[in-house]
Amino acid sequence: MSAPQSTLLFFVNGKKVEEKNADPETMLLSFLRDSCILYIIVDAIKHSSYFEPQRTIGRGHVDAMMETAEHVLQDEMYMGGQEHFYLETQGLVAEPRGESGEMDLYVGTQHAAFTQELVSQALGVCSNKITVHVKRLGGGFGGKVMKIAALSAITAVAAHRTGRAVRCCLDRGDDMLITSGRHPFLGKYKVGYQSDGTIVAADITYYSNGGCTLDESAFIMDKALLHMDNAYRIPHLRGRGLVCRTHLPSFTAFRGFGGPQGLTVMESVLHEVAVRCRLPPETVRELNMYRGELCHTHHLQAFCPRDLLRCWDQCRLKAEYDRRLQDVHRFNSQNRWRKRGIAMVPQKFGVGFSKGFFNQGAALVNIYKDGSVLVSHGGTEMGQGINTKALQVASRVLKVPMSVIFIKETCTGNVPNAAPSAASFGTDAVGAAVKDACEKLMRRLKRLMDDSPHNSWKQWVNDAYFQKVSLSATGFFMGPPTDVDWEKGEGNAYYYFTFGACCSEVEVDCLTGDHKNIRTDIVMDVGKSINPALDIGQVEGGFVQGLGLYTTEQLLYSADGSLQSRGAATYKIPALCDVPGQLNVQLLADAHNPSAIYLSKGVGEPPVFFGATVFFAIKSAIAAARTERGLSATFPLSSPATAARIRMSCEDRFSRMASSSTEDASRCSLDV
Ligand code: MTE
Ligand code: MOS
Repeated sequence: MSAPQSTLLFFVNGKKVEEKNADPETMLLSFLRDSCILYIIVDAIKHSSYFEPQRTIGRGHVDAMMETAEHVLQDEMYMGGQEHFYLETQGLVAEPRGESGEMDLYVGTQHAAFTQELVSQALGVCSNKITVHVKRLGGGFGGKVMKIAALSAITAVAAHRTGRAVRCCLDRGDDMLITSGRHPFLGKYKVGYQSDGTIVAADITYYSNGGCTLDESAFIMDKALLHMDNAYRIPHLRGRGLVCRTHLPSFTAFRGFGGPQGLTVMESVLHEVAVRCRLPPETVRELNMYRGELCHTHHLQAFCPRDLLRCWDQCRLKAEYDRRLQDVHRFNSQNRWRKRGIAMVPQKFGVGFSKGFFNQGAALVNIYKDGSVLVSHGGTEMGQGINTKALQVASRVLKVPMSVIFIKETCTGNVPNAAPSAASFGTDAVGAAVKDACEKLMRRLKRLMDDSPHNSWKQWVNDAYFQKVSLSATGFFMGPPTDVDWEKGEGNAYYYFTFGACCSEVEVDCLTGDHKNIRTDIVMDVGKSINPALDIGQVEGGFVQGLGLYTTEQLLYSADGSLQSRGAATYKIPALCDVPGQLNVQLLADAHNPSAIYLSKGVGEPPVFFGATVFFAIKSAIAAARTERGLSATFPLSSPATAARIRMSCEDRFSRMASSSTEDASRCSLDV
């Protein structure tokens, strides 16, 4: 077959490439040659380049039981990193006050206290002279906990030396280059299973690319290991975690904090076992799920999986999974160049910090003589709605409308030593602290209210002032003593778990590698939601961010380790057209969580992982194309499942010519 000749224009690593009279083969060859670069984790393993600590976790007798399994599979799954791509890049203003080293900083940070601490160290000034103000962030997603503190220290030194206010805002390209993002992960696994899909034993070694400094990489690896069981009772399970030290900019926290990576490798294990047993992956998932009233995770934390199973069952029903699986098979038998896939995953996600001391919250509530209320708390508003929820809590306890209450900013001068707004724990911590402060105030006002029950709020407040009753109170929340003994690999790592299930259907174009997200259904357990509109927004937003992670967002580096994809022209974040045609989000009804404020649950991070349903649906669709062409249904696919990878996996004459001519293209690993 001779392909039509034409001029091809495309971008490789941000460089415009023009090929005159190119045919499709030439285009594929150039694409692979130019962008097939590094496989850095593999290099790090070769050189044993790791950060400490190296962790192991598990239970049972993995090696002995592996021998007893009917089948053993050894494989690996690679998952690329992700750029935060918050709408507002990192930036701040540092303003020296001209007196005894005082400085005010206006910073987009999720962790005001840490920024204050680092600035005070950089300037050699006590923390009481440094005040960090945070109005709100134009998105944080974990990226504005650590790196922004370093940028603040640098900016503060400049302001200190010049005695003038200094503003420092990174442009998009520099932000992407310097501040880095989610850790790429490689999971190597060995799994023993029976022909019916029951998993007997699994042994997974996680390697993350930590970059050049440790940052939060060790905690992120901990979270991956603590989440590796996901929803499954695997009786003999072992996980090892190694953070690779590499020549890339240091990777950092990103929504999910290693959870999605830990979960994805395990879901890949389930998927691959199912394919080999010739069963739908959902059957194998269901077969291995935690059941009963009381279960124990692989780190021996007790929990009840009832709401996890309710999410799964309701999602399966809502999504009409069984009927649509048949429809997908029918569609695939009738179409050669377009294939559909459907996939469903459950999720168990630990909320809060496994390092127990972080699980604390503080607030300050002031009532003014006119009856207006000013709430300050240690959390930061970044679009997740923490201020709205804090206002709701205050309004509920003080029994005044939300319009009377105001949150001006987060300020280290009002609430000291606050924990970062992270780990989906913001509302749990801050909500409980605001509640505590408001209850103190109500106790002080009670006598006046009882004496004159028909007075207005304003009158009670005014009377209190004249009777010398303090109208200002601090609130504190001492969270649970979570901790993991890593010597034993056990402990109560989380206060509680948030559960959910998600089902997605996709359609793949085998000739271009493009895909369409047709429909997604999510059932999420957020306990008794404080604000369903916000929570559904978090689920939708998190899921779409997950779509990017698992399908389109691919970081490309040059051989010397500098990021080449530095902006929306070369790094594809989800657009409106990537949102599934149908996206149904439902909060699990009749759920409550006695462990958190007003029976609610944290929801900020877990939905990102649901993007994996799209990845596994794509993998199934590709498998349908391959089996029709007489190729094996088992094949490697790294995340993100980009158009190039999908195209190459739907093997044909063109893809084979391209990959055989480029040695390291066999994995089609265009990233690190
Ligand atoms: N939602 C928006 N709109 N913007 C964000 O930056 N960050 C996420 C999540 N949802 C984020 C967001 C991350 S990484 C976390 S940990 C939680 O919100 C933090 O907020 P919370 O603990 O108050 O839920
Ligand atoms: Mo979120 S990654 O815990 O800031």
